[in-house]
Amino acid sequence: MKQISEGKAKFYVGGGVFYNPEMSTLRDISVLFLKVLSTNKKRILDATAATGVRAIRYALEAGAKDVTLLDINKKAARMAAKNIKLNGLKFRVLNKSIQEFAGTHRGSFEIIDLDPFGSPVPQFNDIMKLGWDGSVMMITATDTAVLCGAHEAACIKIYGSKPLHNEMCKEVGIRILLNYVSRVASAFNFGIVPLISISDRHYMRIFVRLEFGAAKAISSVKSTGIGAFCRRCYAFRFACGVAPMLCKRCENCGNRLEAFGPLWLGRLYDKSITSSMLRISEIGILKVINDELDVPMLYSVPKITKALGFSSVSHYKVIETLKKKGRSATTTQFEKGGIKTDASPKEVFRAVGSLRHKP
Ligand SMILES: C[S@@+](CC[C@H](N)C(=O)[O-])C[C@H]1O[C@@H](n2cnc3c(N)ncnc32)[C@H](O)[C@@H]1O
Ligand SMILES: [Zn+2]
Repeated sequence: MKQISEGKAKFYVGGGVFYNPEMSTLRDISVLFLKVLSTNKKRILDATAATGVRAIRYALEAGAKDVTLLDINKKAARMAAKNIKLNGLKFRVLNKSIQEFAGTHRGSFEIIDLDPFGSPVPQFNDIMKLGWDGSVMMITATDTAVLCGAHEAACIKIYGSKPLHNEMCKEVGIRILLNYVSRVASAFNFGIVPLISISDRHYMRIFVRLEFGAAKAISSVKSTGIGAFCRRCYAFRFACGVAPMLCKRCENCGNRLEAFGPLWLGRLYDKSITSSMLRISEIGILKVINDELDVPMLYSVPKITKALGFSSVSHYKVIETLKKKGRSATTTQFEKGGIKTDASPKEVFRAVGSLRHKP
């Protein structure tokens, strides 16, 4: 065991208890998010505490006053309790599973952090029992190979959705995760409002608010649906709802469409929150998210130049060209060289083509 620090927290690591320093930026973002939400009066659950680093940082950096920590692993719960004390805090640390705890603490938390190994699916049903109207959930998934379509059968089995395994896979993956969360939430009579959605390296993390009531639940379900895209001209189409009709052929070029989903088709961000966070601290990925056009799906400029048969052009130049034509266009967190725009596939192809001799 050795003592280290991250943010304002000092804590012991080792002894077989999980700690990944590479996830510190994601913890920085969570701290910042809680700062903006003003957490001092809120009851927070760190449901998968491990060393307890999150709970400590939420207290010391975001002013959290009431945090309960859980971990199913005895060594982790013991270490988290030791670390809480080391930082002069007095939080409850329980060596219990989420499943056991959820049975006796229904609707008890305003903020819930779920950061399991791999997929959050095995815990999510029980996590839902712990929230109430207005509760905010921060959920991590590290089974990105599944959500991004490297293991399609696993994604179908776990999330009930068909993923994509191409340049759109990260965005489709996070929308599949949101679709899953929204479907479980709606069974509990809650709608969801995504506040921040991040896909970076080997993890995804979503921040969602629950809204109670049948109307909210139904409205969330209406924000889910099916997608289809055309491998020839990169056009995509969506149909919202549980049993939507989708045409088989691309309206743009007549090619057969490839279906994916079900997935979340609503917004991914609440820009009032991301911009408030950026006013406190300039974190790179947050800046990209805050500037990103919040519409489903993207165009990969390298893919389009390849289809047009010439070497790459700068996606910033494509964005500039589309903007000059009066369209909205931005970069995206989901794909290097990708753009989000309200322009049609024809307009995007034309804009890329116009840059052929001006790389
Ligand atoms: C990825 S680690 C959490 C890391 C920690 N949140 C951090 O930021 O350093 C996942 C933790 O969840 C715990 N865990 C797994 N399943 C659980 C369950 N059903 N209930 C409670 N804890 C669980 C594991 O023992 C492990 O310590
Ligand atoms: Zn097409």
